[in-house]
Amino acid sequence: MSMDVGFELGFSSLDSEVTDRSLAVEGSLPDWLDGALVRNGPATFEVGGERVVHWFDGLAMLHRFAFAGADDAVRYTNRSLRSETYREAMETGEISGQFATGGGYLQRVRRLLFGEPTDNCNVHVARVAGSLVAMTEVPRYVACDPETLETRGEFAFADALTGHVNCAHVVPDPHREETVGLLTTFGRPSEYTLYRLPDGSRSRERIGSVPAENPAYLHSFALTERFVVLTEHPFVTHPTSFLRPGRESFVDHYDWKPGRGTRFHVVERDTGERITTGRTGAWFVFHHVNAFETDEAFVVDLVAYPNADVVDGLYLTAAADWFESGGDGHLRRFRIDRGDGSVTSERLSEGLELPRIATDDRTREYRYVYAQGAAERDGNHVARVDVESGESRRWEQSGVFVEEPVFVRAPDAERPSDEGVVLVTALNTNEQRTDLLVLDGETLEERARAPLPHAVPFGFHGRYFED
Ligand SMILES: [Fe+2]
Repeated sequence: MSMDVGFELGFSSLDSEVTDRSLAVEGSLPDWLDGALVRNGPATFEVGGERVVHWFDGLAMLHRFAFAGADDAVRYTNRSLRSETYREAMETGEISGQFATGGGYLQRVRRLLFGEPTDNCNVHVARVAGSLVAMTEVPRYVACDPETLETRGEFAFADALTGHVNCAHVVPDPHREETVGLLTTFGRPSEYTLYRLPDGSRSRERIGSVPAENPAYLHSFALTERFVVLTEHPFVTHPTSFLRPGRESFVDHYDWKPGRGTRFHVVERDTGERITTGRTGAWFVFHHVNAFETDEAFVVDLVAYPNADVVDGLYLTAAADWFESGGDGHLRRFRIDRGDGSVTSERLSEGLELPRIATDDRTREYRYVYAQGAAERDGNHVARVDVESGESRRWEQSGVFVEEPVFVRAPDAERPSDEGVVLVTALNTNEQRTDLLVLDGETLEERARAPLPHAVPFGFHGRYFED
């Protein structure tokens, strides 16, 4: 196929849906792989003949890849999320109130601060007490059937916690059998509220809060065994900004203020007490990798950008330049001194994004990060970084764009082993379709590949759920 169908295919709408389709597998799957990868991401970019302006604003679609142990087959299901936003968009031919695609100004303000924010939950998924829950950056949640992916309707937690902005990256901590999450509330004062959700429960418990005069756009955070590390970068807003006319979308209300620097708030999970705030220079962050405690420091690994240009780079109109520039996010390790809160950092990788580690490495010292290597126009790669030795490996193929790689550790392998597989969807622009790849966790060699019946636009995040 020609070179002119490049990464643009990753921003093309997908509306076909398949249910429990058996995908032919080339190669062989490990017999212990017994579970399902569920992914979320934008898939409808045009409504009523108009295109959304930002990648983050496409209408959500879920994808499920089910593995059945020794059976060398993958069963695939994909469903557009039938959110209210989706139904409204299909009925009226208009999409509004998104991350960067504006609606009417008054409608936006009402929606964000006083009423119904968007329920286009296209960012992530979580399991909450038997439900599969799709999440986005405002506190509305949509429940889906964990197997068929059918939309069940709005999901409600059984508690009274509220906020205006939701951190779609909750952090399940298997060692403590709870998930920790974060909400931002605008007001006087504005604050970040941390909560825990015990496994099996639908009721969140407030851990504590950190006040914020100018709330930052917090896309994720990190956990250690005993602490939450909240990285308050200087991409900030002021609550009254949302009441002033002239800005068209959610993200337009945030400004890059590098003079503020980056603040690491360390909050004790048991008491909600903030025990220190470390300060360093300005970095922009979407994704944390992990964090852990040593005797001297809190260690936080994240994908750092020198500024917030990435947000503008992901406007669909700018995506071509962005892809050609390759992006500049890289893995960076920050150490926050337990004594005086001083912060040092070092670079650990070349350009990458969408970092993942083994689930049970969370909150602990660990070794291997799997990530999406920075894109070039002709493709990107799966990156594996050994944060102990600094060594990195990659899997790549010309014309192929991989999404977020999810590492599943072999059940009999011990932390921090790389024995296991990397599950990653890969858009093959030559064949104009997506393949599910199963790579070896240690070598990144291809163990198996299952072609999908269509090309899937670039999505965000997924989780692997064991059966
Ligand atoms: Fe994310």
